[in-house]
Amino acid sequence: MHGPVLHPHTELRFINDTIGYGVVATRPIPQGTVTWVRDRFDQSFTAAEVGAMSPPYRAIVDKFSFVDRHGHYVLCWDLARFLNHSCRANCLAAGYDFEVAVRDIAPGEELTDDYGTLNLDVPFHCDCGAPDCRKTIYPDDLLRLGVAWDALLAEPFARLGAVEQPLEALSATTADWPRAKAACAGLEPIASCRDNYRARDARR
Ligand SMILES: C[S@@+](CC[C@H](N)C(=O)[O-])C[C@H]1O[C@@H](n2cnc3c(N)ncnc32)[C@H](O)[C@@H]1O
Ligand SMILES: [Zn+2]
Repeated sequence: MHGPVLHPHTELRFINDTIGYGVVATRPIPQGTVTWVRDRFDQSFTAAEVGAMSPPYRAIVDKFSFVDRHGHYVLCWDLARFLNHSCRANCLAAGYDFEVAVRDIAPGEELTDDYGTLNLDVPFHCDCGAPDCRKTIYPDDLLRLGVAWDALLAEPFARLGAVEQPLEALSATTADWPRAKAACAGLEPIASCRDNYRARDARR
């Protein structure tokens, strides 16, 4: 059971009672592989649309969506909505609408990203268990920690063109992949993850 916009070599598994379900690799996923790309089936809502939703719908958006650089709430239609947060995330986004494996991911290992990159509405309590767990993940973590995440992205981006990219064909709806390739070729700088920041009061 997997969706094509999340890496095909993944499946949904129960992680534990605190975290619930999560996405686990079924085969090795090398550093530099795009693990998730925004695609045309993902739904997006303005802040006003979310504000007008009834509580049960609102709860789904609150739990499963992230906010993009335009301030829109994006609800992934596939297993990507089950990606959990880790303070030692193995998947991160630079300033594009896709995430890459920042290190090699082994079969059986959970794919995780950092909710600090997702423009949270409210602080998030983390139980990831990493030795350097930040405990509370804040809406403006991108501004405070973005420089460190950009540094973590340099090595995987250098490998972007050298590893198999099963999701590339699905990136047709975005200009971000060609931009990223130009960056890998040294034609422009790699866009900073901080480009994805959108303050809460700047959402409509
Ligand atoms: C996008 S969903 C991820 C899928 C979720 N685990 C599930 O089973 O539906 C986000 C929710 O997962 C849980 N979660 C994800 N990462 C977590 C973490 N590091 N610590 C505690 N809870 C986490 C929280 O309940 C959070 O609201
Ligand atoms: Zn943590």
